[in-house]
Amino acid sequence: MRVAGSVRVPGDKSISHRALLLAALGDGRSRVTRILDSADVRSTAGVLRAMGVAVPALGPDVVVEGRGVRGLTAPSSDLDCGNSGTTTRLTAGIVAAQPFAARFVGDASLSRRPMARVARPLEAMGARVTYDGDAGRLPMTVHGGALQDLDWTSETSSAQVKSAIVLAGVAAGVEVTVREPHRSRDHTERMLAARGVDVWVHDRAVHVPAGARVAALDTAVPGDPSSAAFFAALGALASEGELRLPDVCLNPTRTGFFFALARMGARLTVDDERQEGGEDVGTVVVEGGRALRGTTVEGEEVPSMIDELPLLACVAACAEGETIVRGASELRVKESDRITAVVTALRAVGAEAEELPDGFVVYGRGPRAFAGNVVTHADHRLAMAFGVLGALPGSDVAVDDPACVDVSFPGFWRALAGAIA
Ligand code: S3P
Repeated sequence: MRVAGSVRVPGDKSISHRALLLAALGDGRSRVTRILDSADVRSTAGVLRAMGVAVPALGPDVVVEGRGVRGLTAPSSDLDCGNSGTTTRLTAGIVAAQPFAARFVGDASLSRRPMARVARPLEAMGARVTYDGDAGRLPMTVHGGALQDLDWTSETSSAQVKSAIVLAGVAAGVEVTVREPHRSRDHTERMLAARGVDVWVHDRAVHVPAGARVAALDTAVPGDPSSAAFFAALGALASEGELRLPDVCLNPTRTGFFFALARMGARLTVDDERQEGGEDVGTVVVEGGRALRGTTVEGEEVPSMIDELPLLACVAACAEGETIVRGASELRVKESDRITAVVTALRAVGAEAEELPDGFVVYGRGPRAFAGNVVTHADHRLAMAFGVLGALPGSDVAVDDPACVDVSFPGFWRALAGAIA
């Protein structure tokens, strides 16, 4: 298989959510260009509209009139977060500081995901959180109000938890410190700092002082490294050719997959590296034709490639030797249980893999074809990871729900077909 050309992946999902939320909390008008127009980001736009923010239909150029940190209005309907954990958890932080209650609902996948991890710190700040049914699961109502300072040590390295607390602090005008075991993605910190908030980051702790205001800002959203990862993998698995992936966000808290792929033997380089809007951005160039070998991913590397671990498992099936992922039990509470789902799907297409409580082992047998039916559990990242395996010569992989890629990467299947020469 030969790859060729250039794939411009859509805007970063994490940054797109935050660009809308921070524009809504801002003083004045913010313009966001290259925002990701996907189902998840539409969920964030929808919940903001429900709370009185005039967010236009998503497009190449979105202008939002900010309402200030406590200027949202009580929603007259539920906040429908769809499939999006980021929408739910970050918005829960903001609602905790508003003088009203809001009920969060979501799809079947989101309704299974744990919410106590954000509810507990928000309750410690003075908010009240109630559940319709199972404790810690949607539907969940956040009863906002005046909050107090918080110094919180998070058990998980989760940017969503960290951001929920930080945004609650900013919206309430109180001081917060969040500590986490390993550093998770830091877009909230960078984006707040770019909007004039005096964010202090030291090692694995983030601090925001009381009385923060969020300035309006015009920003461009860089390409999503988690989306670029599928094409980096495709290029690395190709027997010849080169793929160029321009304008990808290269924030060091997000680039773990590219490093792991290089360690496995892939040839990856970065061209045109620059800073844009507080983020490192560049063109990732991947060349095919290299033999890949297994690797181990654990510890602080895990959060830097958390969403790419299903894809790593697929690449590992084409490498020589064992690939081990440990310390990634968070995968069990993503859009699906990604440990069970990826191992089951790998076996279904003819690869060898086994589950660990907090990760998996893949027994790679070098370049080869795969065939079988993949159950995605409507998980976009599983669909795309197995899409890459299905694109390999001689492979015949059927993904049960190809449309679920719209959560983060509408147009993925077309882009995948277009990258193969
Ligand atoms: C995200 C953080 C990660 C990631 C998710 C997006 C974010 O989740 O898996 O896709 O935008 O903050 P956790 O913070 O729960 O690890």
